[in-house]
Amino acid sequence: MPLIAPSLLSANFLRLEDECKMLNESEADWFHLDVMDGRFVPNISFGLPVIAQIRKSTSKICDVHLMILEPEKFTEEFKEAGADILTVHIEACPHLHRNIEQIKSLGMQAGVAINPHTPVSFLKDILHDIDLVCMMSVNAGFGGQAFIPHTLEKIKELRKMIDEKQLSVKIEIDGGVTVGNAQSIVDAGADVLVAGNTVFGSIMPKEVIARLKQVSKNHE
Ligand code: DX5
Ligand code: ZN
Repeated sequence: MPLIAPSLLSANFLRLEDECKMLNESEADWFHLDVMDGRFVPNISFGLPVIAQIRKSTSKICDVHLMILEPEKFTEEFKEAGADILTVHIEACPHLHRNIEQIKSLGMQAGVAINPHTPVSFLKDILHDIDLVCMMSVNAGFGGQAFIPHTLEKIKELRKMIDEKQLSVKIEIDGGVTVGNAQSIVDAGADVLVAGNTVFGSIMPKEVIARLKQVSKNHE
């Protein structure tokens, strides 16, 4: 079974407490929290105070996806706000290894996100230092976009690389995940499914989460 990480970017922020309660009662494994700075990506979302409040509402894993430049300036603050996993973008980090060391030294799990145009091979020399690869299957910045089909090839390539090195790095797929394409994404080798619009756009979000969770994982 894949891990399911609903993205709160598509939640109703006027009813955030109820949305968190719904996720707590659901089969969701992680809370996926998207932070955007209007510089690395052409959108601004939410930041530290919102994450600190969400942290108080759940004991599930808070998976924070930073789509910001210079994430090293805020790593400690995100730890204090309650992040369990902190993911930075390879395209935003010229000294990525230093970023990863900083995240791990603060006791968080470290993730690296790659945009759709970034080759999987760019992860080769950082893979053994990280816990998670967040593979973008849309262009980062907005919820509700369509899944880019070529991502399936990239997932297979990364799965092979991780298995050959006998690592336990998780592959998380972020963007355009639906009940209809989840099986093909998991079949390609994904471990974690992020879903924003698919979950929060539904009138039965818990049922949608349960259906995503039911996808069988054959590559284990
Ligand atoms: C996009 C974010 C995603 C987004 C996914 O930049 O990283 O996490 O919320 O939303 P959906 O599932 O609607 O594509
Ligand atoms: Zn995300």
